[in-house]
Amino acid sequence: MPLPTIEWEGDINGRVRLIDQTLLPTELKFVHCEDLKSIWYAIKTLMVRGAPAIGIAGAMGIVLGAKDIPNENTDEFLEKLGHVATYLRSSRPTAVNLFWGINRMERVAQENGNTPVQEIKEALLKEAMKIQEEDKIICRKIGENGAALIKDRTGVLTHCNAGGLATADYGTALAVLFKAKEQGKCINVYADETRPLLQGSRLTAWELMHAEIDVTLICDNMAAHVMKQGKIHCVVVGADRIAANGDTANKIGTYGVSILAKEHGIPFYVAAPVSTFDLTIQSGDKIPIEERSPEEVTNGFGKRTAPEGVKVFNPAFDVTPAKNITAIITEKGVIHKPSRENIKDFLGEPEFKTGITL
Ligand code: MRU
Repeated sequence: MPLPTIEWEGDINGRVRLIDQTLLPTELKFVHCEDLKSIWYAIKTLMVRGAPAIGIAGAMGIVLGAKDIPNENTDEFLEKLGHVATYLRSSRPTAVNLFWGINRMERVAQENGNTPVQEIKEALLKEAMKIQEEDKIICRKIGENGAALIKDRTGVLTHCNAGGLATADYGTALAVLFKAKEQGKCINVYADETRPLLQGSRLTAWELMHAEIDVTLICDNMAAHVMKQGKIHCVVVGADRIAANGDTANKIGTYGVSILAKEHGIPFYVAAPVSTFDLTIQSGDKIPIEERSPEEVTNGFGKRTAPEGVKVFNPAFDVTPAKNITAIITEKGVIHKPSRENIKDFLGEPEFKTGITL
């Protein structure tokens, strides 16, 4: 069953319903965001998370923000909508899909700038729904393109959660595994628990178990040992932002996994939609890396595990250099040995700018 990660309920005056991912796996609870502040908070606190899902949340956030702007004056509406967009962009810095979704919504508002505000609001809701529907199709295409790389009887390592919960409903890295299973391939997955917020154990293990895929949970520091034992034949992870040269930001710890894979001669695949590429950023060292609160490390899930007053560094993402990536799996196909040249050839700049068309 596909996961209804994030949905819009009602008309332009409606609301967002999303799975509160902070409560999983012990509680499957839906929360409603009725206004701009509540969706900003949901993104910031990771109730909704994962690059494509926060792209959708950003787009729906624009509709929520638009709801509270009066209908009288179009210029005033567009100006206020600009403030809504700026506010939403401040929720999380690394996943480019958030900015991509918000920019796309702003473009639609501008394009409809000579129509009454009511109609702009309707166009915005239509666009947010389109972004969500596109994501469902994109994820399935990623699954198909990636599953072709997965042989029968394969051990796969994944890090963080790039599943249905991180997208409209089917995932990117996990889509590859879901599709391989649908094709009758026997796969067994090792899920890194993914400190400090445990997206691997709380979300990935949960999703894979529901899909009846063989999954074994390991702590992050066990990956090298498991690879050395010959249990891993490939790594598949998601991405939050891919620079023009193929350097890829993903959940903290991914870079380390890529080094381990290289050392053990294991292919390392990144699965991501085209909207995760940021061709305005030339290399990974320019990707903004979110730093989160020290409490996530010292007080994870309510138990203090470090001395009071200890200094903490808590970057939420790291950058895997393109040279460690065997291939990037997208909805449009697979980019082998990603580099500035073959990414540009593959995407084509104009197409990248306009995004996918259905
Ligand atoms: O901090 P999170 O949980 O939003 O981080 C998510 C990841 O790093 C995912 O791997 C990435 O967004 C890809 S999701 C398809």
